Amino acid sequence: MTSARQKIDYNDVVQHRNVAFNLDEAKIPRYWLDKDPWLTHYMNAIFCNVPRGERFVMKATTKQLDKISDPSIRKAAIAFIRQEGSHAKAHDGLNKVLASQGLPIKNAGMMVDAIFSAYDRYLPDVMKFAFAATGEHFTATLSAAMLENPELWDDTPEDVAALAFWHFVEEVEHKSVSFDVYKDTCGEGAYSYAVLMATLGLGVSTLFTAAHLSWIYLLVKDKQITNVRSAAKTAKKLLFSPGIFTKTFVSEVVPFLSPKFHPWDNDNRFMINVWKEKYDETGDPVQAYHAFRQWHAAQNGSTYSPNRGSEKVAAKTNVQAIA
Ligand SMILES: [Fe+2]
Ligand SMILES: [Fe+2]
Repeated sequence: MTSARQKIDYNDVVQHRNVAFNLDEAKIPRYWLDKDPWLTHYMNAIFCNVPRGERFVMKATTKQLDKISDPSIRKAAIAFIRQEGSHAKAHDGLNKVLASQGLPIKNAGMMVDAIFSAYDRYLPDVMKFAFAATGEHFTATLSAAMLENPELWDDTPEDVAALAFWHFVEEVEHKSVSFDVYKDTCGEGAYSYAVLMATLGLGVSTLFTAAHLSWIYLLVKDKQITNVRSAAKTAKKLLFSPGIFTKTFVSEVVPFLSPKFHPWDNDNRFMINVWKEKYDETGDPVQAYHAFRQWHAAQNGSTYSPNRGSEKVAAKTNVQAIA
């Protein structure tokens, strides 16, 4: 049964998928995202911290499993844990390849790693559970921002892009699970709301800051910190157009502050349907990625081909932008 808080029916909504990627070190350029050092290292900084974050939320969710009263949420939570396990493993693989290219991925993730270890050791369980609900909101909003702007990935090797978009799709697919698990196990009153808000403050002041320091560290180590041109280009993309950072960490914080917030208040499942249909048909995340890109381009009056990326169609008049 679907509770009023839950907003969507969980039947078959969250699925674990077995995927594999051909991450060939020789085919991954150093600046693999938009051919841009600052933007690539922004994503490297996120990716190097992904496995630790995934394992933290998996552990928190596993601890709550036996306390979940709604069987449909419990079923979704089990699929969520399996999905996050696969994300951690796939990113471990990608991080290994990036490290083999000389990037100090391990050192870049040390601060976030230390913060998660401190969380593990000192936070009460209720805050760990709230952290999973809060963190998943931001991974889902970052993923949605990327799904809305896939042109940034035009120059990325297809297996790296396919890995990232598989992860983005599943983050949107399971975006409400931790939140519903938290509400189911910790209640919906003033106390659970206060803990959620305290966790948001803690996460922003520690993890968010540390992840951005990982970015600076990678830029310094790669001698790109003084690349003003790349910094300006990336600042524009993160802050203004398309505004990946602004959408994820500024505008999406506001709705989260409402005591009535639920992740599916913004029902953006339409963005992941084409990917899911193609994956169900082929079992191939690379084909699913290209199908998503073609669908997205058509929605925006562009064309997309796997070899050439996206191109604007000048004469197209019936442009339907993705909200
Ligand atoms: Fe994930
Ligand atoms: Fe997630």
